[in-house]
Amino acid sequence: MAIRPVLRMGDPRLLEQAQPVPRFDTPDLHALVADMQDTMQALNGAGLAAPQIGIGLQVVIFGVDHNPRYPEAEAVPHTVLVNPVLTPMGNELEEAWEGCLSVPDMRGLVPRYKDLRYRGFDQYGKAIDRVVSGFHARVVQHECDHLAGILYPMRIHDLRNFGFIDELFPGQDIIDE
Ligand code: NI
Repeated sequence: MAIRPVLRMGDPRLLEQAQPVPRFDTPDLHALVADMQDTMQALNGAGLAAPQIGIGLQVVIFGVDHNPRYPEAEAVPHTVLVNPVLTPMGNELEEAWEGCLSVPDMRGLVPRYKDLRYRGFDQYGKAIDRVVSGFHARVVQHECDHLAGILYPMRIHDLRNFGFIDELFPGQDIIDE
């Protein structure tokens, strides 16, 4: 298992539509998930999508432990989500700051659906079906956008709310997705 280089915005592979995973519980899929987990952990991310390490498959991982350094960040269960389908619950949008391992050192204010149902499978083929809200819903929307070739800056309404972390939030630690 290995820490893999994360592609950065500007790499055309980040703009491609990812393909569905055809079979679960295979050595290739387990190796991909392990590499993604190693990479996310090494970079202290909240989530990672396979296209970010150059693999055009519909696989995302995410998870946030409660961390006293980020007291306002809700814990999100550590999840492997394959072939996801997202369904917004209602029309309510919320704006919050996001970062991304593919857009290092920056943050932007991004609208996301507040309430979300997501379905898919884990790497073994076990079904996942959850209704979530807030930060959990935001992380899932961010990661699944990567599978459609969408990076969060493409969703910022007002680009005045996009900038370098050091300038926007001097002295603060942040987590990236
Ligand atoms: Ni990201």
